Amino acid sequence: MLRLRDYRINQDIRDKYAEVVLSGKDFIYPYFVVEGIDIQQEIKSLAGVFHLSIDRILADIKELIDLEINKVLLFGVIDEEQKDSLGTLAYASDGLVCRTIKAIKQTYPQVTVFTDVCMCGYMDHGHCGVVKGQEIHNDETLPLLAQMAVAHAGAGADYVAPSAMMDGQVGAIRQSLDFHGCKDTKILSYSVKYASNLYGPFRHAVQSTPSFGDRKTYQMDYRTRDQALAEAMADLEEGADWLMVKPAHTYLDIIQLLRSSLPEIKLAAYHVSGEYMMIKLAAAAGMVDETCSMLEVLYGIKRAGADYIISYYAKDAVRALRES
Ligand code: PBG
Ligand code: ZN
Repeated sequence: MLRLRDYRINQDIRDKYAEVVLSGKDFIYPYFVVEGIDIQQEIKSLAGVFHLSIDRILADIKELIDLEINKVLLFGVIDEEQKDSLGTLAYASDGLVCRTIKAIKQTYPQVTVFTDVCMCGYMDHGHCGVVKGQEIHNDETLPLLAQMAVAHAGAGADYVAPSAMMDGQVGAIRQSLDFHGCKDTKILSYSVKYASNLYGPFRHAVQSTPSFGDRKTYQMDYRTRDQALAEAMADLEEGADWLMVKPAHTYLDIIQLLRSSLPEIKLAAYHVSGEYMMIKLAAAAGMVDETCSMLEVLYGIKRAGADYIISYYAKDAVRALRES
């Protein structure tokens, strides 16, 4: 008889045989930046996550550094009246996200700054690209995404992270970055991004729910697997430095597929808003323990093969790990 229970006798023994480790360095923490000073407003759909003004983000990063989390992902949140059909404020060189990048880099040069590059938070119709009639126009969106990436790079972003799922977006961004002298700016591509129902709470946070239709003509169909590799390979070919799978918890097989097919590539996984809120709400209903469930899910994502996890739970997770 094989006595596998020997591996589980007590916490020390279990720790000794653990194959997966989590720490602050594994996480990328998302921020939702808004205009103004001293603003910290909890996002109704995302319990424990806030709309923060730049000064409050700077204050909050102190906490991150204490927890050894040294990577942030920025989303700009602007008023509805400021949005238009070309997403003009997305690529303004003095735009909200650009000012945030500069402030962070000035105060915390050691923090790696990632920025979301997509039109949906800046377009009046909430789609990720230029709308023509009822269609989301791929090629007309590319220069806008490239311009947004160049603006962020000019402000000091370390990685731009295109999430619009337009074909050729990584290549267009890479070319533009190089042309504008931003050869050192890297690209974290949201390569494998499924048309998920679990982005709901996020869309409330940035008011980017499409005013018509859905995102299924550009984001991936969740019944496909082979396209994940095709998307990843295309992005690498076009010059992506890191790849991402999104969502994460619901797509562990896809994380593992990319990990095993591309062992050398840095891979991030996005534990998305709906996946986060499912744990929050189940815990609030007394159905699961929040801390234990959160850690189980995050360990699962790492075990599947993610090098980095983008998570609203990043701070809570590191705190919990320290307490245990
Ligand atoms: C923008 C974007 C979305 C998310 C990250 N970037 C929403 C979407 O594609 O509709 C979702 C993140 C989350 O749900 O936590 N393209
Ligand atoms: Zn988008």
